[in-house]
Parts: sequence; C-alpha cells; structure tokens
Amino acid sequence: MYNYNYEKNYDKVVIIGLGQLGLPVAKYVKEHGFDTYGYDINQKAMQSAESKYGIKPATNFGDFDVLIICVSTHRPDDMFSPQVEGLMSVVEKISREAKTGALISIESTIPKGTSKRVFEKLDHRLHVVHAPHRWYALEEDIHGVNQLRIIGGVSSCCLQHGLNFYDGRLEDKAILPSSSSSSMVDHSLSVATTLEAKSKTKSSSSITTKLNKKRSLGIPMHPVSSVEVAELTKIIENAHRYLQISFAEELYLYCKGNGISFPELRESLNTKWNVEILEPRDGIGGHCLPKDTKMFINSSNTIKSKILQAAMEIDEDYREYIQSRDKNGNNGSLTLRGKSRGETEKETEQILCSRKIK
Ligand SMILES: NC(=O)c1ccc[n+]([C@@H]2O[C@H](COP(=O)([O-])OP(=O)(O)OC[C@H]3O[C@@H](n4cnc5c(N)ncnc54)[C@H](O)[C@@H]3O)[C@@H](O)[C@H]2O)c1
Repeated sequence: MYNYNYEKNYDKVVIIGLGQLGLPVAKYVKEHGFDTYGYDINQKAMQSAESKYGIKPATNFGDFDVLIICVSTHRPDDMFSPQVEGLMSVVEKISREAKTGALISIESTIPKGTSKRVFEKLDHRLHVVHAPHRWYALEEDIHGVNQLRIIGGVSSCCLQHGLNFYDGRLEDKAILPSSSSSSMVDHSLSVATTLEAKSKTKSSSSITTKLNKKRSLGIPMHPVSSVEVAELTKIIENAHRYLQISFAEELYLYCKGNGISFPELRESLNTKWNVEILEPRDGIGGHCLPKDTKMFINSSNTIKSKILQAAMEIDEDYREYIQSRDKNGNNGSLTLRGKSRGETEKETEQILCSRKIK
C-alpha cells in the first residue's frame, strides 16, 4: 500500500493536451519552477510547446508526480456535443504507466460522474481531483490560469494533495469530502483526519505549517465537499452564461418583431444597477457554452432543465433569423440596414411561427 506522505513534494509535472488551455497551463507550471513536460496526440502541439516555452515532450507517464489533463471533451466531428472517450483513453494510458500515489488533476470540462469513473479506472492507485478552468483568452491577464478556482477531490486525501499542489495555503480550507472505502492508495489519511487532529493536538499544526512551505502553483482555490460539486460548478457557470445570452437573443427577436430598437432598449434596461442584458451577436458559439450546457442538461437522472432546453431553441431561432437576414444582403451585421420595418417584422414573424414560439 502506498503511504500517504505529508512531506511529499511535487517536482515532475506533465500536462496532457497542449491546446488553447493546456499550453498556457504548461507555461504557468514551468514558470513556477516545476520540471514540466507536455504530451499531446498532435506532434505539432508538442513541438510548438517545446519551441515556445521549453516544455519537454513526454512519451511515457511513468515518472510524474502530477498529471494534469487538459484534453478536449467534445466530439471530433461536432464541437457542440460532449464526448469524454478521448479523455478516458488518456486515463487508460495513465493507468498502465503512472506511478502509484501520483496526483491526477482533470482540468478539462467534464460531465458529472467523470472524476469517479477515472478514479475507478485507475483502480484507486492515484489521487484524483477536478480543478476546472475559468480561463478566458481575451483577458488572460485577469482571467487566466491564476484566478480563483474550484477544486474537488474524489476522496478527502485526493483533495488534500490537490490543495497542496495548487494553492499551498491550507489552514482555512476545512472541507471534508466523503472518503472512498476501498482504496489502494491510503485514502484514509484524509483532510478530515488532518483537520480534526489539528483542532485536538498542537503537533498537527506543524504539519500544516510544513505543507504551507512547499512549492505550489500559488493559485487561490475554493475547495468543495464533493468532486461532483466541482464538476457541476463548471458546467453550470457556462449554462448560466448560455441562459443570459439566449435571453438577449430572445429580446432581440422580440424587438425585431415588434418594431422596437434593441440597442436602445438594452441601453435603457442596463441603466438599472442589477440588470445586465448582453449583446446577442452571432449566436451562442465556441466549443464551451453549447457543449457544457448539454453536459448539464444530460447530468440529471430525473428532470432535465426546461429553461435551458428552451434557451437552446431560442438560440436556434436566432441563428436561423440572422442567417436569413444575411442571405438578404446584410453582410452579417445585426442591424437590419436597408430593410423596412414591415419586412423585418414579417421575416421575424415567419421564423417565430415556423418554430412555434409565440
Ligand atoms: N479554451 C478555453 O477557453 C477553455 C476554458 C475553460 C475550459 N476549457 C476546457 O478545456 C478542455 C480543452 O480545451 P481547449 O480549448 O484547450 O481545446 P483544444 O482543442 O484547443 O486543445 C485540446 C488539445 O488536446 C489534444 N488531445 C485531444 N485528445 C487527446 C488525447 N487523447 N491525448 C492527448 N492529447 C489529446 C488535442 O490534440 C489538442 O491539442 C476542454 O474540456 C474545454 O472545454 C477550455
């Protein structure tokens, strides 16, 4: 059995998946003094990571203390649809090669239940946390790798390891996830044990002090009591954003159908302190919002979110509307230049009726 070691330091780290997210993660990890490697099925991505940031290419996962997974989680032929098969094939390789007691952090966005699936696939030999991203390419300086993030562990000692690696400041992070009962890694030495002991004996406070002195990524982390809460937090954040944009799309269509200026209405609404109506622009795109919203809708064993299903229909209506508008020579702009109000209203009405939205 692997002995959980509070003295353990993390030195050698591999980032698996060196795309839009994985590359800045690798760069950040390297900048924080870790011996940093990268792995990607795309050789070009590995070469680019090496030439740009000195990320060493990994071929085997045998010798790493931490394995960070940043692979894509959508279908190769449809970026709006979730798929974790690629991620599970990475886990397969980790399961064959990684050393017992290493830490796996899944940073990719994943459906509820995936982290536990990973943990079971690894036969409980490694610690598994989910530390999803809020990374935003256009504002990487403030919304990059180092911003407040959520972390959940499959077991409480997984979380302790994760916090140790990411945050390094553990004193106030009293979160007690349920432990796994049948683990090979010694998951019984949990955060709960540490924190209970901390309140009872003076000696354990020296453990915490030691942990705080270790090298970490220095990222502020918000730990949650179960890994499912971490999984859901990420996908619901994006589902919430989806909802906000679809409401803006619906208002836009309403305005077009009722002869109201959307920009003026929006500006007027946004004068209120707690209202923020977004711009609908080109519809809800990218490989995060639609995919993650579907992950959330599919995550329930009972009811499926009705409001999000309606939001998806609205987004379809909106896209259909802007496509038909652009076909009529509007060059993709949202304002219906050169069209009379009558034409606009009729067009919108046709689309709304065809989709049975009243
Ligand atoms: N890009 C963002 O802004 C952002 C923000 C938050 C979360 N995320 C999430 O992060 C994950 C990655 O997103 P991304 O934008 O970096 O995607 P991406 O497509 O830019 O990069 C994914 C990388 O993973 C590699 N890859 C795919 N399957 C692999 C496998 N089996 N083994 C090794 N490498 C593999 C690909 O070759 C690619 O280089 C997704 O789950 C996404 O939802 C992305």
